[in-house]
Amino acid sequence: MRTFDYIIVGSGIAGLYTALLARDAGSVLILTKGSLEECNTQYAQGGIAAAIGADDSPELHLRDTVSAGAGLVDLDSVRIMTEEGADRVGDLIRYGVAFDTIHGEVALAREGAHSVPRILHAGGDATGRHIELSLSDLARHAGFSIREYSLLADVEVADGVLQGATVFDSRAGTVERLECRRLVLATGGAGRLFQITTNAEVVTGDGVAVAFRAGAEVMDMEFFQFHPTALRMPGAPPFLISEAVRGEGGILRNEAGRAFMADYAPERELAARDVVARAIVAEMRKTGAPHVFLDVRHLPARTVQGRFPQIYQFCMGQGLDITRALIPVAPAAHYMMGGVKINAWGETNIEGLLACGETACTGAHGANRLASNSLLETMVFAKRLVDRARNGGTKREDGPSEPGGRIEEAHSLPRREAAGQTYPGTGLAALQRLMWDHVGIERTREGLTFAADTLASWERRLPEAADRASNDLRNAVLTGRLIAEAALLREESRGAHYRTDFPESSAAWLKHLVFVRP
Ligand code: SIN
Repeated sequence: MRTFDYIIVGSGIAGLYTALLARDAGSVLILTKGSLEECNTQYAQGGIAAAIGADDSPELHLRDTVSAGAGLVDLDSVRIMTEEGADRVGDLIRYGVAFDTIHGEVALAREGAHSVPRILHAGGDATGRHIELSLSDLARHAGFSIREYSLLADVEVADGVLQGATVFDSRAGTVERLECRRLVLATGGAGRLFQITTNAEVVTGDGVAVAFRAGAEVMDMEFFQFHPTALRMPGAPPFLISEAVRGEGGILRNEAGRAFMADYAPERELAARDVVARAIVAEMRKTGAPHVFLDVRHLPARTVQGRFPQIYQFCMGQGLDITRALIPVAPAAHYMMGGVKINAWGETNIEGLLACGETACTGAHGANRLASNSLLETMVFAKRLVDRARNGGTKREDGPSEPGGRIEEAHSLPRREAAGQTYPGTGLAALQRLMWDHVGIERTREGLTFAADTLASWERRLPEAADRASNDLRNAVLTGRLIAEAALLREESRGAHYRTDFPESSAAWLKHLVFVRP
């Protein structure tokens, strides 16, 4: 049986950066479900936030993050993230990522809910692609093992200690057991659980599901971010129209052409994401239109084409010249704030099982992530994970905790015996519709109960996980259920979690919901 010091699952920024750091600390295997470059990082447009500007500081970045996070940001995590951010950006530059510059200085953009420009970008709106290609190129030549089209079926744990992993090779159709000292879950989020999403096809909640099945704690799953502006055109995929477009002065208009954001927030287009997404939904409901519009026609065409080359080209490919025409946009599922609960060193409650990136939950994003904080959080905690592992740590140590501590409430998944009302279909497409309709931007007890009942009944009837599709479905059903159950429990609205039957936030809910298998 093959044994590795590190098995790293996922090949976005979280997996590749961890692997590049860990390669001199032992043998490394990267497992990735698709090709090495197939991941969400590719699609990150806006960039990476870091307090490197002359008028900025980690403290100011912390304050903006806390205020976007709607009362549930873990202060220790965000302090670490904002203080260590500049060094991690330095790592990316050393790895060859050429951030855009202006007059010889790194150019910093503004995005919603940031009080100063602090977003570094590369290739205009192609930041994720530049990062992914730089890291994957290094990884392909780094001398560690890479298995593409291989997925982690499950991890094996005995007495709270990781023993190994079962890996399915989807091209050969074979199953293999591997041993490792540490396994890092870096599989990204769960955007593909929703019908309309900006996420890559491979992003089906795998890390959370595998970790939960193994007995790991999973936290904050009710907080799923919907990006306000994805392209909404018949026949076109919901391509991300970066928040940076609003940062450059893009204006949201309704069907009648009226700029409406001032009706919802004094910060208008630069309000926090949850506020903008709900304002768009409200306008769509008022006008009956399937989208609103983003207007950049007043910006010089050269600025639009130079700053947003990907968006410009993609829309042109759909027959839409955004320098002359309004862009039809609507919200789309985008980012999972919750995930596998880790401490400040990437450790879960299972010895040897680690996580980083969107799969993990440090609490740094609270109930609503500040734009462009995700790449930063990923790098900061990946570095800490490898540093601690290199120093010999395997047993979890709880991180520092803010004064008064973080309040957590433990839950297990309730038994749901009722078959649930029937829902058409049982595959991934049906799950995506169910999640979009009942666990989406606006939630109710009735809809969430229906979704949870339906997912529980599907869980009991799942086919044996014998190929990639059935593995994906098994993980999507479990992760979807964790999102629905957490959203059902949280009888308030906070950040990205909006309950029309409990539209206000409540101080009684200033706590985190943690799910663990009994
Ligand atoms: C965007 O460019 O709007 C997305 C970046 C992010 O999700 O932080």
